[in-house]
Amino acid sequence: MSANQDMYNHFGADYHAKRQREEESAWNRYIDHPMIESLLANVAPCPAADLGCGSGLLTKWLAKRGFDVVGADFSESLIGIARQENPELEFHVANVKKTPFADASFGLIVSALVLHYEQDLQPVFAEFARLLKPGGQVVFSMHHPMDEVTSMGTRANGQPTIRPYFHNEPYRFEMAGMDLTAYHHTFENIAQAQFANGFVVEDLREGRMVDEVKEKFPDYHARTNAYPSFVGFRIRLNQDTKPGFKTTKTI
Ligand SMILES: C[S@@+](CC[C@H](N)C(=O)[O-])C[C@H]1O[C@@H](n2cnc3c(N)ncnc32)[C@H](O)[C@@H]1O
Repeated sequence: MSANQDMYNHFGADYHAKRQREEESAWNRYIDHPMIESLLANVAPCPAADLGCGSGLLTKWLAKRGFDVVGADFSESLIGIARQENPELEFHVANVKKTPFADASFGLIVSALVLHYEQDLQPVFAEFARLLKPGGQVVFSMHHPMDEVTSMGTRANGQPTIRPYFHNEPYRFEMAGMDLTAYHHTFENIAQAQFANGFVVEDLREGRMVDEVKEKFPDYHARTNAYPSFVGFRIRLNQDTKPGFKTTKTI
């Protein structure tokens, strides 16, 4: 079991509770979710998978939007909460790199704020390609590559410093009591892992906190409208990509 899996298992209930509190989940609610929503704006309801679904908050929203959606996450405790809160939906305990679903099962995969936990994105996009029907789409978000190399408040004048960019090294951060490890990815690294698995990029967004909460969260709003936090993509599997398409590692 990876250290991150252990953390999300152990602190699953705390993480779910944090997501219920508005201020502590403001970055999910008012940056990530609106970004995912805009990336999905023209995607018609279809069989879908929410991979790295956590306690199923987005899975539930996708079901409400008409998607025939299943969720999967490697945290048993979060999947337990997802099942309890959404008894009508199907959830699985699974790693996003090795899910129990058949080839070409879905028209859409959604994966919100999960991919930065993986150092090598190749096996993740290979699994996404296996799961999608030809022409299927993935909408995903992750830590913005620029945010990962920006240190806030490390200069006397309050201006952030920029650390080296061209690498794939781990970094640690704390969230809801969890000590988590994520990996920096350059935009080139993210794009190459997609191209090598038969995807084309259809849309890319750099999330900013929405203006509706400018008064409520002025500091968060100012910071996230000046410096990037999350990036979101919509990518599409080429029509002629066959299930089981094998890739080469490019990193
Ligand atoms: C920041 S949370 C986001 C949860 C959910 N996508 C949302 O937006 O509400 C990240 C989730 O990814 C899951 N996760 C991280 N790496 C994973 C992996 N390799 N396989 C399956 N789940 C993973 C964690 O257990 C956690 O639930």
